[in-house]
Amino acid sequence: MGSVATDYTNQIEYSDEIAEFSPEVVEEMKSHLTKYPEGRQRSALIPLLFVIQRERGWIDNPGVNFLARFLDLEVSDVWETATFYTMFNMRPIGKHHIQICKTLSCNIMGEPEITDHICSKLGIEPGGTTEDGKFTVTMVECLGSCGTAPMLQVGFDFHENLDREKVDELLDSLD
Ligand code: FES
Repeated sequence: MGSVATDYTNQIEYSDEIAEFSPEVVEEMKSHLTKYPEGRQRSALIPLLFVIQRERGWIDNPGVNFLARFLDLEVSDVWETATFYTMFNMRPIGKHHIQICKTLSCNIMGEPEITDHICSKLGIEPGGTTEDGKFTVTMVECLGSCGTAPMLQVGFDFHENLDREKVDELLDSLD
């Protein structure tokens, strides 16, 4: 069985480095703060983590250090939130992040076969990234689409009621 996304928290490389961002990105981050009441800026953590992930490709320690300073939080507060949600990548990932749901409904509706098919086509194990950096496959817990199992997510898009043919079409469509 492949690793789930949160397993990567034990591979985090810690450092004291603080990430730097362009003035435009910092302005974007500040605009997120204005959406929350005074004194509740911590609530902006999730949208800000999305900005860090978009800018740096994943949630790395320098990005976390930046957010802690930006929000006047402990670094552990930022890690606490970042590592709780599988939508935040704790390691570098490929251009297309294929997240396969491995929970009960998907599992009994054919997830193991789908996972084997995808991984053998891409030549990687669950949790791996192709050598060309194009695809990463991650096994995740329920994505809330159990009625259309088996399913997976690529980026922000769901792909549901999967079979081998649909998987082949999907992989062919990702350039
Ligand atoms: S079990 Fe797969 S989406 Fe819920």
